[in-house]
Amino acid sequence: MDKIRIRGGKPLSGTVQISGAKNAALPLMAACLLTEEALVLTNLPHLADISTMANLLSQHGANISMAGEAGDNGHAGRSINLHAPRITDTTAPYELVRRMRASILVLGPLLARTGEARVSLPGGCAIGARPVDLHIKGLTQLGAEFEMAEGYIGATAPNGLKGAHIVFPMVSVGATENLLMAACLAEGETTLSNVAREPEIGDLAECLIAMGAEISGIGTDTLVVQGKKSLHSAEHAVVSDRIETGTYAMAAALTGGDIELTGARVELVEAVLDKLREAGVDVDVTDKGIRVKREGALRGVDVMTEPFPGFPTDLQAQMTALMSMADGAAMITESIFENRFMHIPELARMGANVTVHGASSLVRGVDTLVGAPVMATDLRASASLVLAGLAAKGETMISRVYHIDRGYERIEEKLAACGADIERLDE
Ligand code: EPZ
Repeated sequence: MDKIRIRGGKPLSGTVQISGAKNAALPLMAACLLTEEALVLTNLPHLADISTMANLLSQHGANISMAGEAGDNGHAGRSINLHAPRITDTTAPYELVRRMRASILVLGPLLARTGEARVSLPGGCAIGARPVDLHIKGLTQLGAEFEMAEGYIGATAPNGLKGAHIVFPMVSVGATENLLMAACLAEGETTLSNVAREPEIGDLAECLIAMGAEISGIGTDTLVVQGKKSLHSAEHAVVSDRIETGTYAMAAALTGGDIELTGARVELVEAVLDKLREAGVDVDVTDKGIRVKREGALRGVDVMTEPFPGFPTDLQAQMTALMSMADGAAMITESIFENRFMHIPELARMGANVTVHGASSLVRGVDTLVGAPVMATDLRASASLVLAGLAAKGETMISRVYHIDRGYERIEEKLAACGADIERLDE
């Protein structure tokens, strides 16, 4: 297993090219199951999760070819051609689903296209229980029948899916995506109310429209879909990664650096940039993206995670690392997942002063962090340890970095290009 070694304490400066968003790319890839024709996605990030999704889609019968730069670890290329003329197998097996919960995103498309699907029930994970009841209830309202057996969700829709009005009792990104994809091939009109408004959903909707779907209400909390008999080929560029943007913005802020994030889109990270400005960080919109710089002191600011357009839960751990060196205190409240504080004991090993009270953590800023051996527990927790390592005095050795490789493309190369002393060690 690889480790990452960081010798911290250097302000970062330079340019970071923001990649396509993992969380947009995964549902977009699953959308290939909705049509007999080819779907081409460009601006695809090189990530382990992208390879896992590609493996899953091949298992269902998709022919997949990648083009562009090849990743070092057999990761995906820059553009991908996904073509599923026939669905050869409707089972998403445990071996793949346990590696990546987003595998549940094949449920809606498989069911809508073939009238059946069998998907291993994703278990809980390091950040919470993460049930999929909203996906199942929504698809049931479109006429599917479900049966749980041997750890699998079995779904059938012998008479096809039929449009309905679905009101989500709580906002879910994945359930919105599954229902949106399924509704595109359902008979008649489907209204989805109280949907998630994350930009990755808008990106999926745009791609589905390019494939011939009829969807209105993009960017609002209600999506209306007119079902079609079939969808067709399309080419679509994956939206830029707002979580990667926020992570590098915080790296610049924490190290007292100056980084331009090219390809970053300001409208996707307004809530994050507002908090950075409040914390004393300079943020400017440039021709190519966003420039983040800090010269003065960092100030403690309170943050609550919320569905988009609020502050994203996927940047909560990184914000905690940032606040760990601020003047004063910060209260960070996690409102999306019940157990997303696994990074805190690791940050404490580096000298951070953080206490957790229920759904909130109280971060009292310290003058210095000190490098230590730490362990990555999930994707965004790992990113917070990288940030802390960049700012800490001395050496930080992060183990279990496969978590980082699930969601950050070439993180050590991007940081090294901005002057970080960071190296991947192959054990
Ligand atoms: C997506 O997960 C992202 N993953 C997550 O990113 C992100 O943290 C999350 O949205 C919230 O923004 C992908 O897009 C692949 P949800 P998802 O359904 O869709 C509860 C990362 O680090 N819920 O919006 O699984 C759920 O337990 C990852 O990149 C139900 O109760 O998130 C959670 O508390 C991690 N029943 C809340 O809703 C359901 O059926 C929001 O989850 C579904 C969800």
